[in-house]
Amino acid sequence: MAPTDNAHQRCINPQCGGQYSIDQALAGCPSCGELLDVVYDWDRLPLPRSLRDIEARWSRRNEPLEFSGVWRFRQLLPFARDDQIVTIGEGQTILQNSPAVAAYCGMSPGKLFLQYEGLNPSGSFKDNGMTAAVTHARLVGARHAACASTGNTSASLAIFASATRLFKVVVFVGSGKIAYGKLSQALDFGAKTLQLVGDFDDAMRQVQEVCRREKIYLCNSLNPFRLEGQKAIIYRVLESLHWEVPDWIVVPGGNLGNSSAFGKALAELAHLGLIDRIPRLAIINAAGANTLFQLYEERGLRWSGGNPDTEIISGFYAEMDRARRRASTLASAIQINRPVNLKKALRALDVTQGLVRQVSDQEILDAKAQAGAGGFGCEPASAASIAGLRLLREQGVVGAGERVVCILTGHQLKDPTTTVAYHSADAGQFESALGKDGVHAAPYANRPAVIENDLDKIIDFVRAAARD
Ligand code: F0G
Repeated sequence: MAPTDNAHQRCINPQCGGQYSIDQALAGCPSCGELLDVVYDWDRLPLPRSLRDIEARWSRRNEPLEFSGVWRFRQLLPFARDDQIVTIGEGQTILQNSPAVAAYCGMSPGKLFLQYEGLNPSGSFKDNGMTAAVTHARLVGARHAACASTGNTSASLAIFASATRLFKVVVFVGSGKIAYGKLSQALDFGAKTLQLVGDFDDAMRQVQEVCRREKIYLCNSLNPFRLEGQKAIIYRVLESLHWEVPDWIVVPGGNLGNSSAFGKALAELAHLGLIDRIPRLAIINAAGANTLFQLYEERGLRWSGGNPDTEIISGFYAEMDRARRRASTLASAIQINRPVNLKKALRALDVTQGLVRQVSDQEILDAKAQAGAGGFGCEPASAASIAGLRLLREQGVVGAGERVVCILTGHQLKDPTTTVAYHSADAGQFESALGKDGVHAAPYANRPAVIENDLDKIIDFVRAAARD
């Protein structure tokens, strides 16, 4: 039986529970508007006896679907036939141990693992999801696709469109809100790029309406198929740990797609008896874009069996609008005030006994510099996970000897402007160099030296550098 016969879309609202076939492109439940899940009739599907069985597929990596770090796990996201799958070799990412970053976070040596998703073809974790979204787009016969983005989703959709030539794409980005590395990717990959005069939340709202009216396939994480692909990050983490479940998984939270996908992956693995316990999820917001932190930690919003108190949510958004508060953080990837996957993230927090923390831009940039000094280049949003872990250690929530995985979501070269400003701005100049306030010092700056074109002076500098 084709895998597609055993998958359907289902509304996450238990009061509704609407079910839809997978050959429809839906950005929400047609009946009640809530988010949709892709669900499977696991009993009728061939499943791996253990996750170790999947490892063996790696030996057939000359076959594109076995090479893909997403599709070699396709028994766990079985919504497409093999011949429908679109892959560009995504997900060749690895989990690495980092004693230097562990020390910075206050973890014992050997206990911190970094999942470096910057190694994806477009330089961020988004490719895990995009391969699944464009596979579904192909399955439903879409010819046009779009997304709103803080930069990485657009880079990812753009690379899939240019590499496969299956779709024409338009990407919506907020003007002046996107890091240059990411904008350059959308342009270079040939995506039609719409710089909206507004921010990500505006772009997200508009792209949904445009896709609905113009029948364009939406590739944001509202799309449940995209999140199916992002489950693979968890599979690879577990595979690298020889299928031993860590104690914590720490992830930055923006639109909350990753958090939602991780929760679903872990719940499914536990349901299928493929893991024996579920790690705790720590979602880290930037303090300037802290909707989830506010709602979950400050106002007590919970999943509540699928009935979260929507008045808490609408009250919070109304306050935000009255105060004209817009998201504002140097971690531009997560500069989001209205995360579309909020309810699925609440479910993930419920399943994993998770928690939410917020970290300042100063903490994010310091953590990023320390990750870099430890050999891991990442963009600011990614470093939120490291800053968040450091905070959780300081708070005594995470033990030094627990096993922790931080997800590094995007590559260092995505946002060189912020990196150079941190390392080279003079004290007191951060606000103008970074274009935002909130960063007052750069304790880990590695300042470039300007040396006259004079051999003696150059040698003096090189000798001093050797002594340091
Ligand atoms: N880290 C990076 C590097 C990102 O690009 C994003 C999201 C996140 C973390 C947050 O992930 O949305 O799953 O909670 N970037 C989106 C974009 C919004 O448009 O590229 P999330």
